[in-house]
Amino acid sequence: MPQSEYVPLLDDGEKLSRDELTALQTQRLKWSLRHAYQNSAHYRRAFDAAGISPDDFKSLADLSKFPFTTKDDLRRAYPFGFFAVPREQVVRVHASSGTTGKATVVGYTKRDLETWSSVVARSIRAAGGRPGMKVHVAYGYGLFTGGLGAHYGAEALGCTVIPMSGGQTEKQVQLIRDFQPDIIMVTPSYMLAILDEFRREGHDPRQCSLKIGIFGAEPWTDAMRAEIEEAFAIDAVDIYGLSEVMGPGVANECVESKDGLTIWEDHFFPEIVDPETGAPLPDGELGELCFTSLTKEATPIIRYRTRDLTRLLPGTARTMRRMERITGRADDMLIIRGVNVFPSQIEEHILAVPELAPHYILEVSRPDRLDQLKVIVEARDSAACDVDSPAGRALAHRIKQFIGVSVRVETVAPGMVPRSMGKAERIRDLRK
Ligand code: DLL
Repeated sequence: MPQSEYVPLLDDGEKLSRDELTALQTQRLKWSLRHAYQNSAHYRRAFDAAGISPDDFKSLADLSKFPFTTKDDLRRAYPFGFFAVPREQVVRVHASSGTTGKATVVGYTKRDLETWSSVVARSIRAAGGRPGMKVHVAYGYGLFTGGLGAHYGAEALGCTVIPMSGGQTEKQVQLIRDFQPDIIMVTPSYMLAILDEFRREGHDPRQCSLKIGIFGAEPWTDAMRAEIEEAFAIDAVDIYGLSEVMGPGVANECVESKDGLTIWEDHFFPEIVDPETGAPLPDGELGELCFTSLTKEATPIIRYRTRDLTRLLPGTARTMRRMERITGRADDMLIIRGVNVFPSQIEEHILAVPELAPHYILEVSRPDRLDQLKVIVEARDSAACDVDSPAGRALAHRIKQFIGVSVRVETVAPGMVPRSMGKAERIRDLRK
């Protein structure tokens, strides 16, 4: 449909004016802070230690007086110590493994699951999805929130869900061809593996039934959006979330603007803080994203430090504020001889070199006390790959010019970089 004819479908929360939203957030924050303090040993201890009480919250500006919550706080409470309702009222748990340490466990009451489904349904609608459409879910099902989160959201919207989960790439293609879904929900990196499979089998991906892709769970770039939209002839939008805050559906891009993700601020209150000092930063400045849940019962989360870096922007397609596409996690930032580098920055430059494909790994080593970065990237055509190919040299030149680091580029044959079934691992660290 031409974008000029697109009419967004809004629920009551999305229709609130800014003032109504502020009033609702204030009222809900009062409840959430009190609920956390009264029903969670962790929050009672943390608020008492900071000398603050829920009664000190009068307006939104007061939130910054409350202590932060970190992944370590959740880990210390492993497995069920963070629940703020009796365990019997928790009808589902999810867990995020992370790369180090114990998993963080989150719980959901029946109402929490309804809230979650409603924000995922809203996200799918914002992406252009409508009741009656078929949704192919290729996020992993299980402790990861991606599969089940997408699943119940799509059902709540009134879609027909195809619960494929991740992996079995040939079967993914078969089901897409046979069941003719309108929407796919999957990590952008796994969408590329599905694309490879379409081509390997000799099918034209542009001829498949898909109209919309809702991609998230990992950083990706506008250059990758262009690649996927062109390959499948679909609209590709960004979905964000994290298990500690809810799962997918904390924020989602609106298809009519594709200008960053609208944060569903009636359920998740965002702040940007300085990642070093924790000082609150004004809207528009780049910093670490923090969230406070406004309606969660089982695992309320107060000022959760996501480690994700972004900035808050005014609303465009909706009244609610947007966040810029996540450029990277503080944890994924490489510091190469003093220059900060995120994998997503490298991805943008890979996609600017026509001979290179967006399958890559960044290998960091320290041969002689200085960190070195090697970009291992696939050529689109096996003829263009060589340890020292012109395309590789063009990439190294761009990275030096635009990011300011010298890298080695190794161009490998198509299919040589391992494909992910879910979140892609972009960094191979040989320093340890
Ligand atoms: O990845 C939830 C999710 C599932 C989101 C499916 C979207 C789609 P976790 O496994 O807890 O939850 O990982 C959360 O993934 O802090 C970000 O670093 C990253 N992330 C999630 N969405 C995006 C995105 C799910 N759209 C962590 N862009 C977050 C960039 C994202 N990074």
